[in-house]
Amino acid sequence: MTPLTQTPEWQALAAQRDTLAGRHLKQFFADDPQRFARFSFRCGGLLADFSKQRLTAETLTRLVRLAEARDLAGFLRRMAAGEAINATENRAALHIALRAEKPCRIGGRDVLPEVRATRAHMRELSEAIRAGAWRGSSGKPINAVVNLGIGGSDLGPRMAVQALREFADPQITIRFVANIDPAEFADTTRDLDPAHTLFIVSSKTFTTQETLANARAARAWLGECDPARHFLAVSNNVAAARAFGIPAENCLAMPEWVGGRFSMWSAIGLPLACAIGMGAFEDLLAGAREMDEHFLATPFAENLPVLMALVGLWNIDFLGAESLAVLPYAHRLGLLPAYLQQLEMESNGKRITLDNREVGCATAPILWGMAGSVGQHAFHQLFYQGTRLTPIDFVVPVGDAGPEQEALVANALAQGAAVMKGKTLKEAKGQLLAAGKSEAEAERLAPHLACPGNQPSTMLLMPKLTPRTLGSLIALYEHKVAVQGCLWGVNSFDQWGVEHGKQMAREILPRMLSGAGDFDASTAGLLAAIRAWRKA
Ligand code: F6P
Repeated sequence: MTPLTQTPEWQALAAQRDTLAGRHLKQFFADDPQRFARFSFRCGGLLADFSKQRLTAETLTRLVRLAEARDLAGFLRRMAAGEAINATENRAALHIALRAEKPCRIGGRDVLPEVRATRAHMRELSEAIRAGAWRGSSGKPINAVVNLGIGGSDLGPRMAVQALREFADPQITIRFVANIDPAEFADTTRDLDPAHTLFIVSSKTFTTQETLANARAARAWLGECDPARHFLAVSNNVAAARAFGIPAENCLAMPEWVGGRFSMWSAIGLPLACAIGMGAFEDLLAGAREMDEHFLATPFAENLPVLMALVGLWNIDFLGAESLAVLPYAHRLGLLPAYLQQLEMESNGKRITLDNREVGCATAPILWGMAGSVGQHAFHQLFYQGTRLTPIDFVVPVGDAGPEQEALVANALAQGAAVMKGKTLKEAKGQLLAAGKSEAEAERLAPHLACPGNQPSTMLLMPKLTPRTLGSLIALYEHKVAVQGCLWGVNSFDQWGVEHGKQMAREILPRMLSGAGDFDASTAGLLAAIRAWRKA
């Protein structure tokens, strides 16, 4: 395949970038009064407005041509057909089957029956827990569920449990422990009673160091309690879960063809099902399914995940953006940026294409963010007057009318408009004169008040944060990531770099005390300092 950056479609986009260079977003709006109508799209409960991105209809047409030239349609067909698009691990990436209603095949085998069987098991367990019918070994009802997992076995359900707190049963405490730092386990379990507590060991591989350490800590913390009544496991490695002491009937299957960061729809979502109930969990799946159907059937020029991917690629590769800020204007979506960090950066933080070449352009952005409006009082200054191009995704559940909610939504809209428009020197000076400053003072201070604006942003609105809209939102980002991976030609579904880091940690651990090992001078020096402290 022709390297991406050498294709005529890429060159056409580079030429387009040069044509648009220096044009301010205000000018884009002045040139095209239909901009909002032209660049806003809907799917189910979501409205995505791309009009504050630095592009024209022509740019979008050229981006769509790039997607066509990279055979995005073929990639989507192969993905939906359960082909091994995760080629370095020879696996399908069929997370859409977890929310599908029609048969989904891998190698001719429909996987829906196994998906449904696991979901039935989730229902049985979550309903027993929610009804107080799941008893600990001393006969007391379970009222606290603690998930032990990390990465994709933690971030999705942790984010969603917080996001959907409004729908959760307040009688059941749901908590999460991910860090190998024993402080997290200690702080999380401090006020819990072992007799009433159930742990879910969530690990696709059941080999992850952090999760196994926390599972052992949980077994010790449970004391006399029988692990058979106080542990569940979600894993693709049931043999290891059983060897740990978790009976087979307490193990929920996690299929091999689901990657960790795409797995919150599987039994990895069990803590969420315990919190909101299986009915609401199925609403989450329905929201994701609505996005899947839209993604697989809608022409690229109107396809939300495809457009979001193309806009992101434009910002990264043609405008030079290095990061993407995700700012949910909803306290309960505060963990969305952390969740998306894994989704985007572990998926597309890659440099080698599937045909074994350097990709030749920038790939995944550094994704960061926090709940608005809190961030306004911390880092928004950089959007207004810093030196970097920082694209932003505003995620705004509009919610019910009410003074505080209106203020929250108004803040989100105002930030999007303000980072786009900025404030000219003239406007800044006028503001200072109106505030009673002298001409000389206004002249001196105006450059410090002026803001260039021109920061691109996407506004994602939804009427309300519900299981269904959350499902659509997360599926939107999942598909965006897959589309970008396809265009860059990288495999979005492996994570060999992370494996390298894990291997390094495994090597350092046994040598920490002995000092043996062939480490770089810095690591060797640091190990020596640690040994000296240990001896002191
Ligand atoms: O950190 C790498 C990773 O492999 C992630 O991709 C994964 O979500 C996480 O570790 C946890 O893995 P497991 O579910 O196998 O414990």
